[in-house]
Amino acid sequence: MQEKNEITIISNLMVDQAARLDEFMLVYEAAVSTVKTKLQILNSEFQCRNDRNPIENIKSRIKSPNSIIDKLVRKGLDPTFQNMVEFVHDIAGIRVICPFISDVYEVSQMLTSQSDIQVVEIKDYIKNPKPNGYRSLHIIITVTVCFSDRIQQVPVELQFRTIAMNFWASLEHQLRYKKQVDFTEQMQNELLECANLMADADGRMQQLANKLPAFFDY
Ligand code: GTP
Ligand code: MG
Repeated sequence: MQEKNEITIISNLMVDQAARLDEFMLVYEAAVSTVKTKLQILNSEFQCRNDRNPIENIKSRIKSPNSIIDKLVRKGLDPTFQNMVEFVHDIAGIRVICPFISDVYEVSQMLTSQSDIQVVEIKDYIKNPKPNGYRSLHIIITVTVCFSDRIQQVPVELQFRTIAMNFWASLEHQLRYKKQVDFTEQMQNELLECANLMADADGRMQQLANKLPAFFDY
Protein backbone atom coordinates (compact mmCIF):
# COMPACT_ATOMS: atom_id res chain seq x y z
CA MET A 1 0.00 0.00 0.00
CA GLN A 2 2.85 2.29 1.04
CA GLU A 3 4.60 1.53 -2.27
CA LYS A 4 1.48 2.45 -4.28
CA ASN A 5 1.25 5.80 -2.45
CA GLU A 6 4.88 6.53 -3.24
CA ILE A 7 4.31 5.78 -6.93
CA THR A 8 1.28 8.09 -6.91
CA ILE A 9 3.29 10.89 -5.27
CA ILE A 10 6.17 10.48 -7.73
CA SER A 11 3.87 10.42 -10.77
CA ASN A 12 2.02 13.52 -9.49
CA LEU A 13 5.38 15.25 -9.06
CA MET A 14 6.31 14.34 -12.64
CA VAL A 15 3.00 15.71 -13.94
CA ASP A 16 3.64 18.91 -11.95
CA GLN A 17 7.13 19.25 -13.43
CA ALA A 18 5.86 18.59 -16.97
CA ALA A 19 3.18 21.29 -16.55
CA ARG A 20 5.82 23.67 -15.21
CA LEU A 21 8.08 22.93 -18.18
CA ASP A 22 5.21 23.59 -20.61
CA GLU A 23 4.55 26.96 -18.98
CA PHE A 24 8.28 27.72 -18.90
CA MET A 25 8.61 27.07 -22.66
CA LEU A 26 5.46 29.09 -23.40
CA VAL A 27 7.18 32.19 -22.01
CA TYR A 28 9.98 31.85 -24.59
CA GLU A 29 7.53 31.11 -27.42
CA ALA A 30 5.68 34.32 -26.54
CA ALA A 31 8.96 36.28 -26.58
CA VAL A 32 9.87 34.89 -30.02
CA SER A 33 6.43 35.79 -31.42
CA THR A 34 6.71 39.32 -30.01
CA VAL A 35 10.17 39.96 -31.49
CA LYS A 36 9.31 38.35 -34.84
CA THR A 37 6.25 40.57 -35.15
CA LYS A 38 8.38 43.64 -34.42
CA LEU A 39 10.85 42.62 -37.14
CA GLN A 40 8.05 41.96 -39.63
CA ILE A 41 6.57 45.38 -38.91
CA LEU A 42 9.95 47.04 -39.51
CA ASN A 43 10.34 45.14 -42.76
CA SER A 44 6.85 46.04 -44.04
CA GLU A 45 7.29 49.67 -43.04
CA PHE A 46 10.57 49.82 -44.92
CA GLN A 47 9.10 48.06 -47.97
CA CYS A 48 6.25 50.54 -48.02
CA ARG A 49 8.49 53.59 -47.71
CA ASN A 50 11.53 52.46 -49.64
CA ASP A 51 10.32 49.72 -52.00
CA ARG A 52 12.99 47.37 -50.68
CA ASN A 53 13.24 44.81 -47.87
CA PRO A 54 16.14 45.14 -45.41
CA ILE A 55 15.21 41.66 -44.10
CA GLU A 56 15.51 38.71 -46.46
CA ASN A 57 14.41 36.01 -44.03
CA ILE A 58 13.64 35.43 -40.35
CA LYS A 59 14.13 32.06 -38.68
CA SER A 60 13.41 31.20 -35.10
CA ARG A 61 13.78 28.24 -32.81
CA ILE A 62 13.15 27.31 -29.22
CA LYS A 63 15.87 25.18 -27.68
CA SER A 64 14.55 21.74 -26.73
CA PRO A 65 14.47 20.87 -23.02
CA ASN A 66 17.12 18.17 -23.69
CA SER A 67 19.49 20.70 -25.34
CA ILE A 68 18.95 23.12 -22.45
CA ILE A 69 19.83 20.39 -19.94
CA ASP A 70 22.88 19.33 -22.04
CA LYS A 71 24.09 22.94 -22.03
CA LEU A 72 23.73 23.24 -18.23
CA VAL A 73 25.55 19.94 -17.72
CA ARG A 74 28.36 21.13 -20.06
CA LYS A 75 28.64 24.23 -17.90
CA GLY A 76 28.81 22.01 -14.78
CA LEU A 77 25.43 23.23 -13.49
CA ASP A 78 22.42 21.35 -12.12
CA PRO A 79 19.46 21.19 -14.54
CA THR A 80 17.09 23.31 -12.42
CA PHE A 81 14.57 25.86 -13.71
CA GLN A 82 16.46 28.61 -11.89
CA ASN A 83 19.73 27.69 -13.66
CA MET A 84 17.92 27.57 -17.01
CA VAL A 85 16.67 31.13 -16.53
CA GLU A 86 19.94 32.45 -15.15
CA PHE A 87 22.54 30.76 -17.34
CA VAL A 88 20.94 29.78 -20.67
CA HIS A 89 20.26 32.93 -22.65
CA ASP A 90 19.64 31.30 -26.00
CA ILE A 91 16.54 29.25 -25.17
CA ALA A 92 14.72 31.57 -27.58
CA GLY A 93 16.72 32.26 -30.75
CA ILE A 94 15.97 34.38 -33.81
CA ARG A 95 18.18 34.58 -36.89
CA VAL A 96 17.65 37.58 -39.15
CA ILE A 97 19.13 37.41 -42.64
CA CYS A 98 19.67 40.77 -44.34
CA PRO A 99 20.76 41.58 -47.91
CA PHE A 100 23.46 44.16 -47.07
CA ILE A 101 25.88 44.68 -44.16
CA SER A 102 24.37 48.11 -43.51
CA ASP A 103 20.92 46.46 -43.22
CA VAL A 104 22.28 44.28 -40.40
CA TYR A 105 23.26 47.32 -38.37
CA GLU A 106 20.19 49.39 -39.26
CA VAL A 107 17.62 46.68 -38.54
CA SER A 108 19.33 45.66 -35.28
CA GLN A 109 19.50 49.30 -34.21
CA MET A 110 15.84 49.96 -35.07
CA LEU A 111 14.78 46.89 -33.10
CA THR A 112 16.95 47.35 -30.01
CA SER A 113 16.05 51.03 -29.65
CA GLN A 114 12.41 50.10 -28.98
CA SER A 115 11.29 50.91 -25.45
CA ASP A 116 10.28 47.36 -24.47
CA ILE A 117 13.62 45.87 -25.50
CA GLN A 118 16.81 45.97 -23.41
CA VAL A 119 20.22 44.96 -24.73
CA VAL A 120 22.02 42.51 -22.44
CA GLU A 121 25.09 41.66 -24.55
CA ILE A 122 26.47 42.38 -28.02
CA LYS A 123 29.06 40.17 -29.75
CA ASP A 124 30.02 41.70 -33.08
CA TYR A 125 31.57 38.88 -35.07
CA ILE A 126 31.35 41.04 -38.21
CA LYS A 127 33.78 43.65 -36.94
CA ASN A 128 35.70 40.90 -35.08
CA PRO A 129 35.23 37.63 -37.00
CA LYS A 130 35.91 34.33 -35.21
CA PRO A 131 39.30 32.75 -36.10
CA ASN A 132 37.52 30.22 -38.37
CA GLY A 133 35.96 33.07 -40.40
CA TYR A 134 32.48 33.05 -38.83
CA ARG A 135 30.73 36.41 -39.13
CA SER A 136 27.44 37.54 -37.56
CA LEU A 137 26.14 40.14 -35.16
CA HIS A 138 24.92 38.44 -31.98
CA ILE A 139 22.76 40.40 -29.57
CA ILE A 140 21.13 39.07 -26.42
CA ILE A 141 18.10 41.12 -25.51
CA THR A 142 15.28 40.93 -23.06
CA VAL A 143 11.81 41.72 -24.34
CA THR A 144 8.82 42.65 -22.22
CA VAL A 145 6.03 40.10 -22.49
CA CYS A 146 2.63 40.62 -20.86
CA PHE A 147 0.78 37.62 -19.46
CA SER A 148 -2.61 37.47 -17.72
CA ASP A 149 -1.11 37.85 -14.23
CA ARG A 150 2.36 39.31 -14.76
CA ILE A 151 4.84 41.13 -16.97
CA GLN A 152 8.14 39.39 -17.68
CA GLN A 153 11.46 40.38 -19.27
CA VAL A 154 12.37 37.37 -21.40
CA PRO A 155 15.86 36.82 -22.89
CA VAL A 156 16.17 36.18 -26.63
CA GLU A 157 19.35 35.57 -28.65
CA LEU A 158 19.37 37.43 -31.95
CA GLN A 159 21.75 36.63 -34.78
CA PHE A 160 21.91 39.16 -37.60
CA ARG A 161 23.91 38.31 -40.72
CA THR A 162 23.97 38.90 -44.47
CA ILE A 163 22.91 36.35 -47.08
CA ALA A 164 26.60 35.72 -47.85
CA MET A 165 27.52 35.22 -44.17
CA ASN A 166 24.55 32.88 -43.82
CA PHE A 167 25.62 30.88 -46.87
CA TRP A 168 29.00 30.23 -45.27
CA ALA A 169 27.67 29.58 -41.75
CA SER A 170 24.99 27.13 -42.96
CA LEU A 171 27.42 25.08 -45.01
CA GLU A 172 30.16 25.17 -42.38
CA HIS A 173 27.60 24.02 -39.79
CA GLN A 174 26.58 21.07 -42.00
CA LEU A 175 30.18 20.07 -42.63
CA ARG A 176 31.02 20.31 -38.94
CA TYR A 177 28.01 18.57 -37.47
CA LYS A 178 27.06 15.87 -40.00
CA LYS A 179 30.19 13.79 -39.57
CA GLN A 180 31.81 13.95 -36.17
CA VAL A 181 35.34 14.34 -37.56
CA ASP A 182 37.76 17.18 -36.90
CA PHE A 183 38.78 19.41 -39.79
CA THR A 184 42.41 19.13 -40.89
CA GLU A 185 44.43 22.35 -40.87
CA GLN A 186 44.16 22.49 -44.65
CA MET A 187 40.36 22.20 -44.47
CA GLN A 188 40.25 24.95 -41.85
CA ASN A 189 42.32 27.21 -44.11
CA GLU A 190 40.01 26.43 -47.03
CA LEU A 191 36.96 27.32 -44.93
CA LEU A 192 38.58 30.55 -43.76
CA GLU A 193 39.37 31.46 -47.38
CA CYS A 194 35.72 30.87 -48.35
CA ALA A 195 34.57 33.07 -45.44
CA ASN A 196 36.92 35.81 -46.62
CA LEU A 197 35.57 35.49 -50.18
CA MET A 198 32.06 36.01 -48.81
CA ALA A 199 33.22 39.03 -46.81
CA ASP A 200 34.87 40.49 -49.90
CA ALA A 201 31.68 40.00 -51.96
CA ASP A 202 29.61 41.59 -49.15
CA GLY A 203 31.92 44.62 -49.09
CA ARG A 204 31.78 45.03 -52.86
CA MET A 205 27.98 44.72 -53.04
CA GLN A 206 27.75 47.30 -50.25
CA GLN A 207 29.96 49.69 -52.20
CA LEU A 208 27.86 49.19 -55.35
CA ALA A 209 24.65 49.95 -53.45
CA ASN A 210 26.27 52.96 -51.77
CA LYS A 211 26.69 54.47 -55.25
CA LEU A 212 22.96 54.33 -55.98
CA PRO A 213 21.16 57.49 -54.88
CA ALA A 214 18.81 56.99 -51.93
CA PHE A 215 19.24 53.21 -51.94
CA PHE A 216 19.86 53.12 -48.19
CA ASP A 217 17.21 55.61 -47.22
CA TYR A 218 16.92 54.36 -43.62
P1 GTP B 1 27.15 28.74 -27.04
O1 GTP B 1 25.87 29.53 -26.96
O2 GTP B 1 27.28 27.73 -25.98
O3 GTP B 1 27.37 28.16 -28.42
O4 GTP B 1 28.36 29.70 -26.72
P2 GTP B 1 28.48 31.28 -26.86
O5 GTP B 1 27.35 31.92 -26.15
O6 GTP B 1 29.87 31.70 -26.53
O7 GTP B 1 28.28 31.35 -28.39
P3 GTP B 1 28.36 32.45 -29.50
O8 GTP B 1 27.60 33.68 -29.16
O9 GTP B 1 29.76 32.63 -29.95
O10 GTP B 1 27.58 31.64 -30.62
C1 GTP B 1 26.33 31.09 -30.41
C2 GTP B 1 25.71 30.60 -31.71
O11 GTP B 1 26.27 31.25 -32.86
C3 GTP B 1 25.90 29.13 -32.01
O12 GTP B 1 24.93 28.36 -31.36
C4 GTP B 1 25.75 29.08 -33.54
O13 GTP B 1 24.37 29.18 -33.91
C5 GTP B 1 26.41 30.37 -33.94
N1 GTP B 1 27.84 30.18 -34.20
C6 GTP B 1 28.87 30.59 -33.43
N2 GTP B 1 30.06 30.25 -33.96
C7 GTP B 1 29.80 29.61 -35.12
C8 GTP B 1 30.62 29.02 -36.14
O14 GTP B 1 31.84 28.99 -36.08
N3 GTP B 1 29.96 28.45 -37.20
C9 GTP B 1 28.60 28.46 -37.32
N4 GTP B 1 28.06 27.88 -38.40
N5 GTP B 1 27.81 29.01 -36.37
C10 GTP B 1 28.38 29.56 -35.29
MG1 MG C 1 25.16 31.47 -26.84
